[in-house]
Amino acid sequence: MTHFLDIHTTPQSDLRDIISNARDMKNARAGMSKGTLDADQPLAGQMVALIFEKPSTRTRVSFDVGVRQMGGQTMVLSGADMQLGHGETIADTARVLSRYVDLIMIRTFEEQTLLDMAEYATVPVINGLTNRTHPCQIMADIMTFEEHNGPIKGKKVVWSGDGNNVFASFAHAAKQFDFELVFTGPETLDPERALDGLYTTVRDPHEAVKGADLVVTDTWVSMHDPQSARERRHNQLRGYQVNDDLMAKAKGDALFMHCLPAHRDDEATSSVMDGKHSVIFDEAENRLHVQKAIMRHCLSK
Ligand code: CP
Repeated sequence: MTHFLDIHTTPQSDLRDIISNARDMKNARAGMSKGTLDADQPLAGQMVALIFEKPSTRTRVSFDVGVRQMGGQTMVLSGADMQLGHGETIADTARVLSRYVDLIMIRTFEEQTLLDMAEYATVPVINGLTNRTHPCQIMADIMTFEEHNGPIKGKKVVWSGDGNNVFASFAHAAKQFDFELVFTGPETLDPERALDGLYTTVRDPHEAVKGADLVVTDTWVSMHDPQSARERRHNQLRGYQVNDDLMAKAKGDALFMHCLPAHRDDEATSSVMDGKHSVIFDEAENRLHVQKAIMRHCLSK
């Protein structure tokens, strides 16, 4: 069984193959119309369950479109509407779904839910985000960086803001893809201790971004954070906003990324998000291509 649960638990060679296949599939479609299905139809006759316990625009649409492009069909399920949301165990849900579908993608809260789904399912399971990680997003980000600025190996990536679940997958990627990762943010929002050793910390954002090849940020209040924390987080993070002044300290050809959705003019100004460094919509597009490659990877073994 080949699941795609996290970047640090996937072999380096498989990660590289996924990016390479995603690039090939993207290129192959470039000359085709949007309605044209992928020629080899690797998911023909296959059913994919897309389970969402949290809201989503990009993950939902990109997985749904990706499956259809490869000839498969999808079933989008809301956690709250399933028996899962009314006390049925993950283990039983996983066993039952495995009798109906060929692949499961789940976006959930606790990482243990994902791990239980993978343990008890007899079909591959893909992590569509948990409170701890967001590996599909970072695979799309690596692909996007390399499309614009070549191999990410040895490059300097600076994360400004909250040390959240998206940062955690960047930290896992730093080891697997061999790039330098710098975290700049307040001590109160440091990444979890399990990530120690995968990145360095520079508290002053203007120092941190010097010589950066890529500057990344994310929303200041994540989906799993209580809204009551909003004002406190804004006060803590205001100094870490990615604006033109900060980007000017990075390399001249540095890229700016944000996984979206964004709160414009909070974590990043519109001038940066729409400016010459920004590749935010390429990141969003590449979710489609890289997830198609991830699904092929899971179903091909
Ligand atoms: N970046 C991301 O995962 O977007 P959605 O929450 O819209 O899926």
